[in-house]
This record gives sequence, C-alpha cells and structure tokens, in this order.
Amino acid sequence: MNHVDRLNEAEKYLQVKETEVKESHWRLHYHVAPRAGWMNDPNGFCYFNGEYHLFYQHHPFSPFWGPMYWGHAVSKDLASWKHLPIALAPSEEYDKDGCFSGSAIEEDGKLYLMYTGNEWTGDNHDDDLRQVQCLAVSEDGIHFKKLKENPVISAAPEGNIHPFHFRDPKVWKKDNVYYCVLGSKTKENEGQVLLYRSENLMDWECINIVAKGEGNFGYMWECPDIFQLNGKDVLLMSPQGVKPEGNLYHNLHQSGYVVGQLNYDTGVLEHGDFQLLDYGFDVYAPQTTIDDKGRRIVIAWMNMWVSLMPEQNHGWAGEMTIPRMMELKDEKIYCRPVPELDTLREDGVYYQNVMVDGKLELANVQGKCLEMKITFDAKKATVFGMKLRVNLELGEETVIFYDIKKEILTFNREHSGAGPKGVSHAPIKLINNRLQLQLFLDESSLEVFIQDGEKVMTGRIYPNLKSEAIQIFSEGEVEVVELAKWGMKPAIS
Ligand code: FRU
Repeated sequence: MNHVDRLNEAEKYLQVKETEVKESHWRLHYHVAPRAGWMNDPNGFCYFNGEYHLFYQHHPFSPFWGPMYWGHAVSKDLASWKHLPIALAPSEEYDKDGCFSGSAIEEDGKLYLMYTGNEWTGDNHDDDLRQVQCLAVSEDGIHFKKLKENPVISAAPEGNIHPFHFRDPKVWKKDNVYYCVLGSKTKENEGQVLLYRSENLMDWECINIVAKGEGNFGYMWECPDIFQLNGKDVLLMSPQGVKPEGNLYHNLHQSGYVVGQLNYDTGVLEHGDFQLLDYGFDVYAPQTTIDDKGRRIVIAWMNMWVSLMPEQNHGWAGEMTIPRMMELKDEKIYCRPVPELDTLREDGVYYQNVMVDGKLELANVQGKCLEMKITFDAKKATVFGMKLRVNLELGEETVIFYDIKKEILTFNREHSGAGPKGVSHAPIKLINNRLQLQLFLDESSLEVFIQDGEKVMTGRIYPNLKSEAIQIFSEGEVEVVELAKWGMKPAIS
C-alpha cells in the first residue's frame, strides 16, 4: 500500500472507533488525546500559518503501541483543539515499522516534518533495528508527502555512537543554517545527544556529541530539544534508565534539562546540572516550540512507558499535558499554564481567608474537570493540603500535601482508583510562609503548578466517575488566603 492508501485505511478505522471511545468516562475535555487507539510523544509541535500544530506518535488500530503513525491536532489559541486527519503513516522501506518521533520546521511557506524511519531487522527490538532520518513536506499543513531524497540521514556517525539507536530529530534554524539534535547512546549504553548541521535540510553533517550522560544518567537519551531561554541554551531530553536517588527519579524514565552555552562551531554544550522538568509521575518526551509572541511553549506526553493505562479497556490510551510557558530564572525553568486557558473557565467560585484546622469541604468546590487556584498561609500547621476526587464510600482520594518540616510537597495516588499508584515528592520552600498551587483536573489527569510555576507535578489518575469531592485538611491551623475554582469548558473537537 502507498502512503495515501495507508492514511485512508487508518482514517476509516478511526472514524468508526472514535464514536465508541466517546463513551469512556476517562476521556479528557480540554487535553489532547487520540481520537481512538494509542498516543505517545508529541511531535512536530509548531506555529505555522497562524495556528499551533501538534502531531503525536499514534497507533490508530489499537490502544497499544504498534507501528507508529503521526496523529495531528490544530489550535488557534492553545486552548481549543481540533483533530485533523492522520499526517504520516509507515509506507516505505525505510519507515515500514514506524514513523518515529520528530519535529517540524517552516521553509518557503511550506511545513517540513523531520522524523525517524524505523525498521525492525529481527525479533529483538533492542538490537535488531535500523533507524534513519527522513523528511515529509506539506503546502497546507495537513497533507504531507515524503521526500524522494529520503532518508536524509541514513546512518549514525562513526565514533562511540550506537549505530542503530539514533532517533527523534528536533530541527531549528539559526543564522540561515539548519541544526538538529538526535537522541543517541554510546556503544557502552550511556545516553548522549548528537548535533547536526545542514545548509538545505537535505544534506546533513554531524558536528559533535553535544552532551553526554556521565554517572547515573541512563542508557539512552530520547527526544532531545535545544532552545534559548533568557540568553542561555537549554537542552531538554528524556533519559531512560536513571536510577532512583533519594526522593528523585522513581519513575521508569525521566524528562529534564541542563542549562548552558552551546558553541555552534565545536558542537559542544557547556552546561550545569541535570534538573527534572516535572516532579510527578507522568511527563515524558516533552517538545517545545516558539510562537509569534516569542513564547517558548512545551507540551509533553502525560503517561509513562510500562505504566498501567486503564483507558486501554475503553479503546484508547494517552494524553498530552496542557501547553506550558517556559521561563528561566536562576538557571531553573519555570513552567506556567498558557494564559489562553483562562478562556475555558466557567462558573467561578471564590473564597477568601478561610481558617482550617482539621478537615473542611467548601460549598461548590468539587468536580472532575476544573481549574483551581489556592494560596495557603501555613500559620502554625505542620502538614496541610487537599484531597481531590474523594469518594468516602469507595475509599478513593488523590492527596496533595505539604510537610512544613521536610519542606516537601507530596502527590499521593495510592488510593486514586484504578490505574498506577505511588507517591511522588517535590522539594518546595514556602514563600513568606505561603504555598501557592494551581491545579488542573480533567477526568483522568491532574497537573499541579507550584509557587507560580517553580515546580510542576503531573500524573494520570483513574477515579470512579462518582468520586468528585474536594477536602482541605491540616494538622494545626492553616489559612486559605484565597481560593478560586472554575469549571472548564470542553475544548476538543
Ligand atoms: C519516546 C520514544 C522515541 C521514539 C518513539 C517511538 O517515547 O521511544 O524515542 O521515537 O517513542 O514511538
């Protein structure tokens, strides 16, 4: 089958399945998820012809990972999204087992997608594979043709570079030259990132290994991204196989960044220490773009490999985070929800100066699909926080609480319902004795922005559809200085 036939076949299948999937009570109202079937990494996130395009790794034929297609959604404002037809399907010798992750770049009014063509050469998917880098182009941002020059990078470079694990091109342009980074590993299984240069998008030369993991930094770095924030160069990447250290790195794989200065001639990034992008459970393969307002925006896959995904029983799997704006302060990335999401708010409920000692439920503060902003003054409390998606009869609750002594915010999903369990921690300092949280709940997910974006905790939760109560609690007196809660309008069509 040729590319167009493969796309049509998948489209037909999806059109039937997407009706079934709508019945799932874990479907999201304002987060991008696949129409049906499986989703992983965001791909080709870009601002093109006045719209944000978000592509994603997609297996339309089942809610499990399989030969990868590129799903596609588009938004005028980063708040409401519309699904578009699938953009890429495996169809050629060089990508017959999957169009793996990649990115987008505009050139001469056309949109180019650069992605990894994957081919299995045997049964062991760790060793028996060939990965090459490819291009597809579109005039309208919807219909894509693969280039006859493909693959444009057909083999990994010489040196201490694994010949086959070599993927996820993120491309950008600087001073009329194209650059791209690729995820890679050494022959001894240490993660690293390669930097390439090209004059024309077709002919690429490897400049250098731009950064490399030393010590406990995993066996492979996936999905790299390089961009500037505040005059500094940031390398964002997803290391696989970092071992837990204290409260950190308890997820199977990590996503994080280093900040420094990239020398484009030598191809080396001098950088500081690795920082996590998110302190929750489910953020992987984040990808950024810059928009017409000069904002650097990031979206990530809101799942983790090998994690339980109970929505698979409903014919779909996977979700994207809300778009988050990145800023650099003191060499750390702050992530805040894009302000456009405010347009989805409805039915606001507001409270001020509420004292809590013990447990409290506030009238009209409950729900499954909402945004909430809350500022606590810790007063004399030792521990305080909130329980979300509570159902006493079912024993369900998802707990976010702060321990003053330990200076740790905890996200506990041990009793969240079906799905993965666990506890995750973020080191947080009170500011003037206050803790400020902004939470986004959407049927099967929770994102918690802490101290105005200083840290974020993200996780999938799968409560019963009747688990809707919200409780504020404390040991010792705490003041809710301000609380605002809004319902969120449905934003995906
Ligand atoms: C990251 C990843 C990428 C790869 C894609 C395949 O989650 O493993 O490295 O391109 O997923 O779906």
